Amino acid sequence: MAQEDILKKIIAHSKEYGFIFQSSEIYDGLSAVYDYGQYGAELKNNIKRYWWDSMVRIHENIVGIDSAIFMHPTVWKASGHVGAFNDPLIDNKDSKKRYRADVLIEEHLAKIEAKIEKEVEKAAEKYGASFDEAQFRATNQRVIANQEKIDLIKKRFIKALEADNLAEVKNIIEDCEIVCPISGTKNWTDVRQFNLMFETKLGSVSDEANSIYLRPETAQGIFVNYLNVQKSGRMKIPFGIAQIGKAFRNEIVARQFIFRMREFEQMEMQFFVRPGEEIKWFEQWKETRLRWHKALGFNPKKYRYHNHDKLAHYANAATDIEFEFPMGFKEVEGIHSRTDFDLSQHQQYSGKKITYFDPELNESYVPYVIETSIGLDRMFLLILSSAYTEEDLTGEDGKTEQRVVLRIPPELAPVKLAILPLMRKDGLAEKATEILNELKYEVNCIYEEKDSIGKRYRRQDAIGTPYCITVDHETLENNTVTIRNRDTMEQERIPVDKVKQIVVEKTSMTNLLKKVN
Ligand code: GAP
Repeated sequence: MAQEDILKKIIAHSKEYGFIFQSSEIYDGLSAVYDYGQYGAELKNNIKRYWWDSMVRIHENIVGIDSAIFMHPTVWKASGHVGAFNDPLIDNKDSKKRYRADVLIEEHLAKIEAKIEKEVEKAAEKYGASFDEAQFRATNQRVIANQEKIDLIKKRFIKALEADNLAEVKNIIEDCEIVCPISGTKNWTDVRQFNLMFETKLGSVSDEANSIYLRPETAQGIFVNYLNVQKSGRMKIPFGIAQIGKAFRNEIVARQFIFRMREFEQMEMQFFVRPGEEIKWFEQWKETRLRWHKALGFNPKKYRYHNHDKLAHYANAATDIEFEFPMGFKEVEGIHSRTDFDLSQHQQYSGKKITYFDPELNESYVPYVIETSIGLDRMFLLILSSAYTEEDLTGEDGKTEQRVVLRIPPELAPVKLAILPLMRKDGLAEKATEILNELKYEVNCIYEEKDSIGKRYRRQDAIGTPYCITVDHETLENNTVTIRNRDTMEQERIPVDKVKQIVVEKTSMTNLLKKVN
């Protein structure tokens, strides 16, 4: 199936089964803003819990906070967002479509890279076991030429961005002969900078002084509370502060479903360390975060690190964890060594001393910071796109039918157990309700009595429910039920008393947390 088709199917599936809806849909929607439905909200909460517990619960030196979305406007001057939280934008004069200039160039580079990979794949197939990939990359003329092209464009592009030379960014787009995907023309405007922060007014008097911003990242709420938390929690360096919350960015090109939104959620952790020890911690957090991702059991080949070519002026190391989404390898999480930039800036702009007295060194310093920052919605899309599976099944009558199953890790599945009475009559509904009333305190259960059992199984597969139990006449005789596994579709007769133990054990978040630690 083409990758684009997979994304379309995921979007349709999300709507049909109550995971994600377009915001304000009955008014034709609001671009790049989405609402989470009944199962989406459950899955989102479970992802949050997995992240929160893996940070705050299993690390004694990490605490969590919940800071306000509105912050003093000077925060964003100090952080550099007022001056430099910009994207370079460019318009195509024929289609009137607006693009991020850097994205156009990056997509062009990705196309050349794809050509190289195709060349390598072809050669690997041709030469089989004797294929030496490194040698092929170093000697094949087409691969060398394309790699040189990539290196040259990257070098020019980084230099242009560093010098804030927008005319040169446009030159690169023209020299690469990049065309608008809609009009197919190269009729571009000049490149301009566009600040991504949403501005609003505080209070009823609309003058300049009351302008505030919707936060574009949650991190600054952590930095400005550094002293409060360190002092009230008597935290000793190294320690971390974690937070989950909404962030807002007026993205120029908001597309690819929940990958790039204007209102989204971040899960960020700032880890405060001694100056000089930051690279050691940076490497450690890189590994820990990849382990967190891989614990979910999706294809490990779909993850990679992408080290930044161009470091932000405040960072001395930065990497992204990229995942192969249906639209290719894209960033899901950023890990940055942010030096003492943010705390120093807030110290300077607020006039308050923000230092830490290190009793072991007997000296005071502004701590250095390692940041891990993951988009909750992107993580949601990662899970949906990995979990979505179409399977052809052949029945006993030889007929084939398709089932769509969301192979969501059981620990994160929105519903853990479906309780299905074979029929409503003969006391089966009452018995099923009795089981529901006992188990609903332990795990998220669903009760369904409509349609045939087969149809009800398919519906639970489509939601990603790991277990279904069927209550039938035998249940009334010997207190046993049939339990069905979502992934294997195997069914087993077990005593009702064992259901809780199986479902709790297999869906407990502890399973994941132990893999991370
Ligand atoms: N505090 C650092 C920071 O905000 P970022 O790379 O701009 O860094 C961190 O964002 C993460 O937030 C990204 O890796 C991505 O997962 C998520 N993110 C950023 N912009 C987003 C958007 N417009 N829609 C959805 N997620 C977004």
